[in-house]
Amino acid sequence: MWLIVSTLALSPGVEAADRPALLKDAFKDYFAVGAAVNRSMVTGGAAFRRSAEQNEMDVALLKEQFNQISPENDLKWQLVHPREGADGFDFGPADSFVNFGLSNRMQIVGHTLVWHSQTPNWVFAGTNPPPASATNTTPSPAVGAAATNGPGLARFGRGFGGYTGPRASREELLQRMRDHIHTVVGRYKGKIKTWDVVNEALADGTGTNVLRNSLWLQIVGPDFIAKAFEYAHEADPDAILRYNDYGLENPEKRKKLIALIKMLQARKAPVHAIGSQAHINVSTSFEIMDQALTEIATLGLPIHITELDVNSAQSGQRNTGADIANNAATAQGNLVADADKKLADAYGGIFRAFVKHRNAVKMVTFWGVNDAVSWRAQGKPLLFDGNNQPKPAFDAVIAEAKLSTSK
Ligand code: XIL
Repeated sequence: MWLIVSTLALSPGVEAADRPALLKDAFKDYFAVGAAVNRSMVTGGAAFRRSAEQNEMDVALLKEQFNQISPENDLKWQLVHPREGADGFDFGPADSFVNFGLSNRMQIVGHTLVWHSQTPNWVFAGTNPPPASATNTTPSPAVGAAATNGPGLARFGRGFGGYTGPRASREELLQRMRDHIHTVVGRYKGKIKTWDVVNEALADGTGTNVLRNSLWLQIVGPDFIAKAFEYAHEADPDAILRYNDYGLENPEKRKKLIALIKMLQARKAPVHAIGSQAHINVSTSFEIMDQALTEIATLGLPIHITELDVNSAQSGQRNTGADIANNAATAQGNLVADADKKLADAYGGIFRAFVKHRNAVKMVTFWGVNDAVSWRAQGKPLLFDGNNQPKPAFDAVIAEAKLSTSK
């Protein structure tokens, strides 16, 4: 038996036909294909929802299929810089992440420097009483909802943006931001070549506010975004700096993105790429993605799809968006009818759009390697199932690469 298999493998024609398709090879002429990785994938051992053996298989799949990695949590402020002061940084897991990427020759993305979520309270704390008008800040799950949102959220601390105590001044907060960015970006200079500098600063909904009413906005003012990009550029002038947000398939949110980026460009802020998270659902078609990419591309910057997953849960068709405060509601209950086929159709359509816009789209990152480790596990949103078997959506994605090369 062994002999037959190895003879087949030695015959060039058979080998090509039988070789399993690989995402990173299929799209190599267009864009990098990456995945978010959790801590256990880069340190080894048992993981959240995974035994050590399963984790090893997840890592094997990651190395086989993907050529780029993003850290699912370990470079967020809450994790990498939980305390104030000189010994306030915990770099161990982030170092493992970066070393994993270097030893496997993958492109390494840093996620994320400035965000309203997963940021510890000390960052915003000071001696200034909050203004009476600002008591109703960004809706935040704070302590209570972190507990009800399940272990995924509770595990990563309480800093979800609900700080209500006395505040830092604008100058203090900018100084903390600058120190944080310089220390973290500086440490991985030349290794992490792409950074999500500001994450999710745009307001949701159809209101007239462009920016989310976060503590960053309230304390610093709208120029906190430009400042973050300036500090990151000082720390590593060669890094590609992204603005990253979700919901950009929605025309209203997209208008806000375009307004924000134009403002930053007018200020000459060093924004080098647009990150579109793309936490979407099975009703996202080729047309919707094509329209989104067409409009975003008018900004003249590369587009990176940064956190792709396609929610198949019924609840995820009603609750769109990707605010982590509401995540529990978006992936629960039953899947939509015919979920495998709908997922395959959606993935085929959006990859057709990515390939069509290949002059702009330079990176596509899935938010996880398989359904079991996904933050929306119940929505079965990825190309591989919990046993790392490719789903029909995987074939649909590979088919788009073949179609584009046969044209
Ligand atoms: C999510 C992680 O996947 C979870 O493990 C964590 O509990 C919450 O954050 N937008 C982002 C990502 O920019 O950082 C979020 O990641 C998903 C939404």
